[in-house]
Amino acid sequence: MEIKGLIFDLDGVIVNTEHNHFVAWKRTADSLGVAFTEKDNEKLKGLSRVDSLKTILEMGNIEISDETFNDYLISKNKFYLDSIASITAENMLKGVADLLNKAKEKGILLAVGSSSKNAKFILERLNLTDAFHIIVDGNMVENPKPNPEVFLKGAEAMGFAPEECVVFEDAESGIKAAKDGGFYSIAVGNPEIAKLGDLYLNDLTEFKLI
Ligand code: BG6
Ligand code: MG
Repeated sequence: MEIKGLIFDLDGVIVNTEHNHFVAWKRTADSLGVAFTEKDNEKLKGLSRVDSLKTILEMGNIEISDETFNDYLISKNKFYLDSIASITAENMLKGVADLLNKAKEKGILLAVGSSSKNAKFILERLNLTDAFHIIVDGNMVENPKPNPEVFLKGAEAMGFAPEECVVFEDAESGIKAAKDGGFYSIAVGNPEIAKLGDLYLNDLTEFKLI
């Protein structure tokens, strides 16, 4: 089947902000007294902010009030945004710019499918806002990853069926979302999920458009 659309996850695929999310969640977990390693963070990758905090609380078997829950979300996001305050196009991951340009030359449509509510801000900082036909972010879905909604919305906006699109992901939840949505899924840059996608690439320079 001819590829008509490429759908990119943002954090960990276009830019290495996944590490900033980890550092910010580690700080949250520390203040809740929950042990939290990079391995534990694999479970959080791709989840919404709310579901990420719920996962940390479940790990520690901790219950907190709705108000405290909200306070933790606000402080995590503030810490995270401070940590990416100086992000620029130079922080784009290997192969991204080239692939976006080559796809455009071939008339392939491009989309972002991200759980992040900060996606548009980050893409703006990377000068990438206009590179995509549609940006579907965490503000636009009712059911975050691992639900396929974010990718289905992207495909629909481009006017393509899932089978005509490829999804690039670095998270287990994102690969599940892509597969459940009927997309061809490519795991990128995260050996932890190498076997989960239809294909694994170390980085986007390895993806060749024919
Ligand atoms: C995803 C990241 O893209 O967005 C997660 O993989 C992050 O780590 C989630 O928690 C939500 O991001 P934000 O920016 O809305 O807090
Ligand atoms: Mg990601």
